[in-house]
Amino acid sequence: MINPLRGMKDLTFEEGQRFVHIVKTAIDVAKKYGYSYIETPILEETALFKRSVGNSSDIVSKEMYQFEDKGGNDVCMRPEGTAGVVRAFISAKLDRQPVKQKFYYYGPMFRYERPQKGRLREFHQFGCESFGEDSVYEDFTIIQMISQIFSELGVNFELLINSLGCVECMPPYKQHLVGFLRETQEALCEDCNRRIDTNPIRVLDCKNTTCQSLLENSPKLINNLCETCDSDFNKLTALLDKAGISYRVDTNLVRGLDYYNKTAFEFVSNDIGSQSSIAGGGRYDKLVEFLDGKPTPAVGFALGIERIMELVQMPEEEREGIYLGAMTEEAVEALFPIATAKRKEQKVSVEYTSKGFKSHMKGADKANARYCVLIGEDELKNGTVWVKDLESKEETTVPVEAF
Ligand code: HAM
Repeated sequence: MINPLRGMKDLTFEEGQRFVHIVKTAIDVAKKYGYSYIETPILEETALFKRSVGNSSDIVSKEMYQFEDKGGNDVCMRPEGTAGVVRAFISAKLDRQPVKQKFYYYGPMFRYERPQKGRLREFHQFGCESFGEDSVYEDFTIIQMISQIFSELGVNFELLINSLGCVECMPPYKQHLVGFLRETQEALCEDCNRRIDTNPIRVLDCKNTTCQSLLENSPKLINNLCETCDSDFNKLTALLDKAGISYRVDTNLVRGLDYYNKTAFEFVSNDIGSQSSIAGGGRYDKLVEFLDGKPTPAVGFALGIERIMELVQMPEEEREGIYLGAMTEEAVEALFPIATAKRKEQKVSVEYTSKGFKSHMKGADKANARYCVLIGEDELKNGTVWVKDLESKEETTVPVEAF
């Protein structure tokens, strides 16, 4: 028997419904905020992710599904959606238009991580990217949009926010931090030691408890922001306060992708174990330029659909549509014109095998249909159908044309 690959899974019936419910809810909300759909390829040039997500990030250095295709090109299954959307934005020359653009997308992402609960090698994200808006109002609006998605899905969360500064305040802070890290170097874990040279900011994110306690005394970027970043961050927290969206400032929140500046955020859940991040995002004002587009400020997020599937409260399913059945062999084909007509407006399930009354009633119940509609010998002869409303329990016989 051939099974799915490790860290990849099928979404069977109930899970499939959860998946669709999350995507549909997220799309409905995103549309209300002015986002339109974008689809980009799953396979891209490896260079795209190296340049955007960052060479020294775990995603690029350890987790890429990277291979040479038959034409000798170095390609990669996308580990995340932002890089591809930015590439598409530049490919379509949208960076040269003064219009602000907002896109949403959803689909599979691939990271060769060690699989565990909530951590898959193929997982799905729903994401949004907003281009051309440098106001912190947009950061706030995106956070509000995610809160709305979670509230409509009945998912509780804790919001963590931080500022990663900009080209002005980040470099001096980095130096300051490296100085501190060098002093504590011997006590830090192997990963952190490597990161001091390659990506010192990521040290702040280390999950090792010894490193965590040493880092409590590290310099905090939030206290070293330039005037603009500081004022934007204060504006963001004030807007969140006003909107009643609670948050915690997490000075160690640096995100695992290198393209962020200024606002960074993560939505976490305490109900799904150690892989608790259910959505993450932030501002990435330099990425379009970095991928050879015209300078364009941008901000976005992605949520992890499989993690949210564990948390979502599914609406109770109401009886819906019609179950059609025949009581005699001759009546079976009389069901099809009715099905064709009714399917223009509602869900119809057709039982192809003629059966007795009780069997059909069971079938209608299993299909969770609102109406059980049957044709027997008499109905076929008279051009009628027998209809039972399974909610009100009312039964009627009506001419086919009137049904
Ligand atoms: P990310 O934080 O790497 O951000 O991923 C976003 C979400 O994807 C996470 O919060 C988590 O729910 C889910 N996720 C990540 N890895 C896995 C995994 N191995 N298994 C299951 N779920 C996972 C990004 O990908 C950025 N592109 C977000 C963004 C968009 N920033 C700006 N725009």
